[in-house]
Amino acid sequence: MSHSMRSHYCGQVTADLLDQTVTLSGWAHRRRDHGGVIFIDLRDREGIVQAVIAPSAEAAFKEAEQVRHEFVIQIVGVVRRRPAGTVNADLKTGEIEVAVSQLTILNASEPLPFPIDDEYHTVGEEIRLHYRYLDIRRPLMYSNLAFRAKVVQYLRQYLDSHGFIDVETPFLTRATPEGARDYLVPSRTRPGNFFALPQSPQQFKQLLMMSGIDRYYQVVRCFRDEDLRADRQPEFTQLDIETSFLNEVEIQTLIENMIVGLFETHLNVAVSAPFLRMTYADAMRRFGSDKPDLRIPLELVDLGDLLADCGFKIFADASLDPDGRVVALCIPGGATLSRKEIDDYTNYMSIFGARGLAYIKVNGKEKADLQSPILKFLSDEFVQQMLARVSAKTGDIIFFGAGKSRIVNESLGALRVKIGHDRGLVEAGYRLLWVVDFPMFEESDGKLSACHHPFTAPHVETVEELMKNPSKATARAYDVVLNGSELGGGSIRIHTSEMQKCVFNLLSIDDQKAEEKFGHLLTAMKLGCPPHGGIALGLDRLIMLMVGASSIRDVIAFPKTQSATCLLMDAPSSVEPLQLKELGINLVET
Ligand code: AMO
Repeated sequence: MSHSMRSHYCGQVTADLLDQTVTLSGWAHRRRDHGGVIFIDLRDREGIVQAVIAPSAEAAFKEAEQVRHEFVIQIVGVVRRRPAGTVNADLKTGEIEVAVSQLTILNASEPLPFPIDDEYHTVGEEIRLHYRYLDIRRPLMYSNLAFRAKVVQYLRQYLDSHGFIDVETPFLTRATPEGARDYLVPSRTRPGNFFALPQSPQQFKQLLMMSGIDRYYQVVRCFRDEDLRADRQPEFTQLDIETSFLNEVEIQTLIENMIVGLFETHLNVAVSAPFLRMTYADAMRRFGSDKPDLRIPLELVDLGDLLADCGFKIFADASLDPDGRVVALCIPGGATLSRKEIDDYTNYMSIFGARGLAYIKVNGKEKADLQSPILKFLSDEFVQQMLARVSAKTGDIIFFGAGKSRIVNESLGALRVKIGHDRGLVEAGYRLLWVVDFPMFEESDGKLSACHHPFTAPHVETVEELMKNPSKATARAYDVVLNGSELGGGSIRIHTSEMQKCVFNLLSIDDQKAEEKFGHLLTAMKLGCPPHGGIALGLDRLIMLMVGASSIRDVIAFPKTQSATCLLMDAPSSVEPLQLKELGINLVET
């Protein structure tokens, strides 16, 4: 690589180039005057090199005196060894420096709002996002983006070599249900009508199976107007996959091998396939979560069967409630937790709707050694059985959750993770698993909604079987979970119009509405639709977990804020009245 403005990247100038003349272009990272000699650390995306400008190089020296932080400059010079004692072993270029003969300022820079180094935690994220182009000059952001590009390249190659075809699907389309709000785009040509940006290409990829594409993939942007968190963005990227004539294990095997290869080649980490498979029911029972973090060696233990006459009303009531659950979570060594720490955990539980957090400290083997505000309510028999069941040892603390299953699972599941982190119990490494056999539906106020999306096939084969007990039906759906994060989700799809209509009906979408919204899919299912299934992986999440970032914003060049705005471009923004008029839109004050 040699161009008029650059013979090498700064970060690549090493002792291999001793005595050679190099031309480098980049940013003045730092400038120091040392007794008449000027040193400039010149930076580009590959790293930093030290340039030395002596007064004898008269024109260059004059120019160098003008250089300030982040000026864009070009230098020509000879690579030489640094004097003894000034070698910097931390830098790839630390053995050498460039003795500059020519220096050109290509562009000046005003003082920056924050320094370009990885000490960015001193700078608020708002400022970073406002000046995102500066933020990306930081080595960490650059390496995240470069790593992301390499991962995408690997994934594409893997899928290409397994017969997958990359097909693009539209962004201007109709709403497709993935459970979030749609981003709508008004139509000028059909006033009063709207496109929806896709929450995923779900229907298109299924239709491509009906087209005989057989193996589809796409690295595709998806749009969801939902509450944002560290691992959610309103527009994010999926590695979206669909296959025909494969069953769930065959699809999972393809994905497992892809991930094993990816981790081996890009992280030098060995993960073994097949991944553990755990039913949704087991995941909820043992971890209170459908995306359990298996690095944390703590499990929920059911106590419901011991409680009928335990003497403590809250426990007894929950154990008798068909929607209720009573569990214990034993924390080894947790008896050292202070009153204040326990209060903090109790407050944390209230976020999830839990009304309290009962506990017992196990200070010894006898009942007298137990310390707990609820001990007086509990029968001796219950206490003995409970201690045996949770395998409590001296020095442990046992937390209890009792109430509606949903609240107990959410709150104790979250407590398990929080305490795991707080007490340094999180084991190193990558723990992957499949969570399988999800329920088909969630029930609330007697109404069913889809647990995944309404195109997911049930385990039962016929409409009659599904109708026998729909609320208890399980789906041929699977999630791949990595260290407590949902990395991807997929399923075998419904491929007959009868079953699809039946599921729509169960979801309160009557035949007329189904025809209106999904007529294209229902018709296609009657015109030679192969059995098919697929999956989508959250690419941003995958990269985030691989580089160890704490937010997906750190692996996306231009992310949105928590309130779904772009600070850099100041979007969303108001538009000209004429544009609204053309779209037939009148704004009303809200
Ligand atoms: P699902 O809705 O589970 O499935 O999405 C697949 C994966 O996409 C990622 N993801 C997100 N990442 C960042 N920000 C978001 N707002 C966001 N929402 C989801 C997650 C998730 O596991 N069409 C189905 C897939 C299929 O059935 O094949 C779908 O979209 O990592």
